[in-house]
Amino acid sequence: MSGFDLVIRQARAVTAADIFTTDIGIRNGRIAALGRNLDAGAREIDADGRHVTPGGIDAHCHFDQPTGDGSVMADDFLTGTRSAACGGTTTVIPFACQQKGQSLRAAVEDYHRRAGGKALIDYAFHMIITDPTPQVLNEELPSLIRQGLTSFKIYMTYDALKLNDRQMIDALSAARREGAMVMVHAENADCISWLTEKLLAAGHTAPRFHASSRPMLVEREATHRAIAFAELVDVPVLIVHVSGREAVEQIRWAQGNGLRVYAETCPQYLFLTSDALGDDDGHFHGAKCICSPPPRDKANQEVIWQGLSNGVFQVFSSDHAPFHFDGPLGKKAHGSNPSFDKIANGIPGVETRLALLWSEGVLTGRIDPQTFVALTSTNPARLYGLYPRKGSIAIGADADLVIWNEDNPFTLDNSLLHHAVDYTPYEGMQLRAWPGMTLSRGEIVWDGHHPLDAAGRGKFLPCDCPKPALARSRQTEILL
Ligand code: URP
Ligand code: ZN
Ligand code: ZN
Repeated sequence: MSGFDLVIRQARAVTAADIFTTDIGIRNGRIAALGRNLDAGAREIDADGRHVTPGGIDAHCHFDQPTGDGSVMADDFLTGTRSAACGGTTTVIPFACQQKGQSLRAAVEDYHRRAGGKALIDYAFHMIITDPTPQVLNEELPSLIRQGLTSFKIYMTYDALKLNDRQMIDALSAARREGAMVMVHAENADCISWLTEKLLAAGHTAPRFHASSRPMLVEREATHRAIAFAELVDVPVLIVHVSGREAVEQIRWAQGNGLRVYAETCPQYLFLTSDALGDDDGHFHGAKCICSPPPRDKANQEVIWQGLSNGVFQVFSSDHAPFHFDGPLGKKAHGSNPSFDKIANGIPGVETRLALLWSEGVLTGRIDPQTFVALTSTNPARLYGLYPRKGSIAIGADADLVIWNEDNPFTLDNSLLHHAVDYTPYEGMQLRAWPGMTLSRGEIVWDGHHPLDAAGRGKFLPCDCPKPALARSRQTEILL
């Protein structure tokens, strides 16, 4: 049957498995045909042999998330999803965060309100569970999973968010029972608070001491502990925003021993080092790059690059956590030069994620285009229950696509970006590629110059449970 709404001609289509030249016929927002010389469409785009990838899925970003510490995120669902679309991302999965004492259901309802009528592209939600009471784990969680919220994050640090070991085990056990995916922020809270106290007492307050307060062993220990708990409970786990060698070694050990341990890393661990947090010069600019875990050094960047190509990492996300540098709500919410422990954690990156990896990963030969697609789209779709609707170029999938421009090298500058943040940590970087066009369900949401002015067109995506096969672990003979 012909009658396409849109045909993209001469695409060099990339999936997680293949690269092939094809026309892409789109009808009713979905890919209806792949092949050469497809019939005419009501509209036609000549890709002219340029790479076409599935739209990116940013499975770790924070938009309009209440912080509770006086800081306010700069991006809401409008500016956040607009920025995402301009950078080639067509699905985002931010976090509905439960405040301690709050019901999880209320946190999710609040987050639906924040997203509703604003998003330009499709979105799903992870939850953050900070108060895993029996009511939350046994009643609210199962019902929210039935509503399509099938993944949640737990924290091992931050006073307002962290769980103790027993609470982690209870949450993992509930995830096993319900088939949910658990993401873990792995840093040891007590080590961090002890180090922070010592650093402040010695007068070491500058932004760069944020990195000293969270050395690699803090991440290594927590990663090890999270993996052990997941093994005990016999449930898959996904360690998020992995920063360097010591955590990678724990993850590789687990994967080598057959445990279902997945891992995510982010651009900041490839392109920033702790030098970006500044020196002792009294300037506050290093606050721009404060995030947790902190960026490490060049040698660790190399370990992260290797992990992207050798299979340690399944997911490459932005961890976009947008706080203004200037003004009273962002990095300076606690004054113009607060000590490092009072600076909001997180950096922007939802728009730059794909272009950084394509430019510095694919075009340098560090990873192949198929691995790029697996890390940025197909694997997150699979792990979070959005596949095959999202994450591939296949008949029946949503026509979420990126047509790449690789012939216009340019210098990155925050004025080129569409987020609401007043800086990018990647200012001044030379990039060799950028999405020339982004399509969401067959509609052009970024034409290379302007985002589509269509707040609210993005739809909430209920996720399936990923339900990986539940093999019994060596440890577990207990009744779960
Ligand atoms: O520093 C970071 N990563 N902030 C965002 C929140 C989180 O833990 O992912
Ligand atoms: Zn985190
Ligand atoms: Zn995050």
